Amino acid sequence: MRIIGTGSAHPKHTLTNDDLSKIMDTSDEWIRERTGICTRQIITDENLEDLAAEAAQKALDDAGIKASDIDYIICSNVAYEYVTPTVSSIVEGKIGASCPCVDLNAACSGFIYAIDFAEALLQTGRATNILVMAAEEPTRMVDWNDRSTCVLFGDGAGAMVVTRGEELRAIKVSSKSNLDVLHYKRKLEPTPFITKEEEHIPLYMAGQEVFKTAVTCSLRDLLAVLSDAGLDKNDITYYVLHQANFRINDFIRHRFNMDPAKFPVNMDKYGNTSSASIPMLLDELNREGKLKNGDLLAFSAFGAGFTTGACIIEWNK
Ligand code: ACO
Repeated sequence: MRIIGTGSAHPKHTLTNDDLSKIMDTSDEWIRERTGICTRQIITDENLEDLAAEAAQKALDDAGIKASDIDYIICSNVAYEYVTPTVSSIVEGKIGASCPCVDLNAACSGFIYAIDFAEALLQTGRATNILVMAAEEPTRMVDWNDRSTCVLFGDGAGAMVVTRGEELRAIKVSSKSNLDVLHYKRKLEPTPFITKEEEHIPLYMAGQEVFKTAVTCSLRDLLAVLSDAGLDKNDITYYVLHQANFRINDFIRHRFNMDPAKFPVNMDKYGNTSSASIPMLLDELNREGKLKNGDLLAFSAFGAGFTTGACIIEWNK
């Protein structure tokens, strides 16, 4: 795999911590100190598929290829208005591609899982150019009366075009079933035959449990991919980590004894955008001209499941 283009798209509405403190019992100080989040972009009148298509088109333009050159679209998505068809199928129509499309849901780790699937397609020769993307609207999954979750999230989409290459140095994905700490449950249509009790549960998160698991798993995964790639932690140019909580990423940075410049952050502006956070941050680094050929990037994410994933990829656009 080799990355040849990136793109991202954000909803236009900015919601600040002070805005939140006007509608619930919270404060800029509490949110900033516990999470590092200052503002988030949240969906108002936009449709997620339009943001996804915008991110995809930007990635195609950046790669300098046409939609007709794409032979697979893989989109990570947790929840969305349409359960079917998938985000990727709708994006296919919007950008004018014609190829197999699939969405996958591995929660916030979904983008790393999408990379894993894409690499398998490239290695078996089933595809040459793949649009790997993530589109998420977690602000539609939370209970807006639950201040411990709703302040954490933002919406958005990120995409990258990948082609055949040798740049993916190592990848590891994992899952350990744990329904209790993090879940979102929605009710399906009733039938005349359903006899069980069903309930709709907005996003539930046992924050401190998730925090501990996230730190432990991310550290474990990063060390594993460094070892698989035969690299030292200091060889990595940027640790592009899931943007859930500044304290999680900073804990990992401290453990690695690294300069903050190696751990780019944009959760202060966008909050936790679930699996879209890594491709959105990657696109930001690319567009700001911070990436040069030969740079080694480490991605790491964790999410409900409990799923985790990490990989190391060389930037060679
Ligand atoms: N404003 C003010 N007070 C609040 C707020 C808020 N928004 N939310 C909770 N509190 C209060 C609580 O009610 C509690 O009050 P109490 O002591 O009187 O009972 C107090 O603050 C402390 O609450 P904790 O939950 O213990 O706070 P904690 O320090 O653990 O921070 C947080 C909570 C930010 C959620 C933290 O646990 C965390 O970041 N966990 C990891 C979450 C994460 O990474 N999720 C992403 C992974 S999954 C995904 O991406 C979908």
